Amino acid sequence: MSAFRPPKGTDDILPPQSSTWRRVLREWDEWSEVYGYGLVVTPLFEATEVFERGVGGESEVVQKQMYTFTDRGGRSITLRPEGTAGVVRAYLDAGGSGVMKLSYAGPMFRYEQPQAGRRRQFHQLGIEYLGVGEPLADVEVVEMGYRFLTRLGIGEVELRLNSIGDATCRPGYLQVLREYLEERREALSPDSRARLASNPLRVLDSRDDAPLLADAPSMVQHLCAACSQHYTGVKEGLDQLGVAFVEDPRLVRGLDYYTRTAFEYIGTSLDAAQNALGGGGRYDGLAEALGGKPAPGVGLALGVERIVLALGEQAVGEVDVYLVSEDPQLAGRVLKLAARLRQAGVRTDFDAARRSVKAQFRSADRSRAPIVVVVGDRPELDIRCDGERHAVPPEEITQWVTTRLHR
Ligand code: HAM
Repeated sequence: MSAFRPPKGTDDILPPQSSTWRRVLREWDEWSEVYGYGLVVTPLFEATEVFERGVGGESEVVQKQMYTFTDRGGRSITLRPEGTAGVVRAYLDAGGSGVMKLSYAGPMFRYEQPQAGRRRQFHQLGIEYLGVGEPLADVEVVEMGYRFLTRLGIGEVELRLNSIGDATCRPGYLQVLREYLEERREALSPDSRARLASNPLRVLDSRDDAPLLADAPSMVQHLCAACSQHYTGVKEGLDQLGVAFVEDPRLVRGLDYYTRTAFEYIGTSLDAAQNALGGGGRYDGLAEALGGKPAPGVGLALGVERIVLALGEQAVGEVDVYLVSEDPQLAGRVLKLAARLRQAGVRTDFDAARRSVKAQFRSADRSRAPIVVVVGDRPELDIRCDGERHAVPPEEITQWVTTRLHR
């Protein structure tokens, strides 16, 4: 033990738990490539204004959760609480026109009340589809995330979908909603009363006031023709792809930049307080809010911590072959054998500490390697696999192991 622990709400991710984490990241890389998304890497911190103007000054994230400081040059800097504002800033910096499909993975920072699946440093996987306003882009994004979660093996994912309108129809709806809420002001929770003035849409996702909100007017009933048509297009596209969704007229998102499509993937096996595995939506006004030319966009982000929680304990080993040496004199042979296997892409490990044979077998067990190769004085290697023993000449080892692994 050192004298220190990680700061409150942050974690060290170590083996064996990190093997699930690693698998999730690897599959994300592959899956986003399969859908045609290029990699984007943006700074972990930005000028505070990027988030104030991008995410929105009225949002809880900006008001209460940002890690903001003044750097040595006197600039106000904020650790990114989310990825979208920075990616759109980068798109605008790169010219801000045309279609760009971008994928990212990395840490985000929010000053939250920490609990399982709600951390101060957490990790997101995200995509942003910029430059296309058509519903087909929304459909692609929603489907990509949904299939990613189910491919990983998370069985219980519910896709919730809503449209929250745009600058044409939302103001009218907010007026109607405000009137409805004002009439019930006394019965609302203090939190909701506070939000009523600044951000009435957010009152809709108050858990405390759920009964009172059951009959509240919904945005979908007040969509303008263009938004309504867009929403229909998204639903039809998902139907065509066989992606099941639940329409949730009370789904609003915590960030202010959304227009039209809003969605979340709910992990129904997780606790309600942190059961959103991911979410996203369209943000056609964000580029302009950041001072750029107007550009449509839609995207999503998934939470790695929550995905790992939903996957649960998984006994995935990180090693295919563990080499055991019967005699410390054979260290050179073991080293060369390991190098040969590794060059063939076989995940190989051995004990460099020259411990007893018994201790090496214990390490082999712990590594969960399906194949253990014992190197002794004999010309042939003694292989233990599936409860059987095989004598294999050293020059055939790579062939033997790769055939076995791909069987
Ligand atoms: P968000 O809903 O704020 O959206 O975050 C997306 C996901 O990140 C959440 O569903 C959750 O899984 C995870 N997450 C958020 N906060 C925490 C936390 N404190 N601890 C652990 N996990 C957390 C966004 O961030 C948008 N940028 C998504 C987006 C991309 N919209 C359009 N493009």
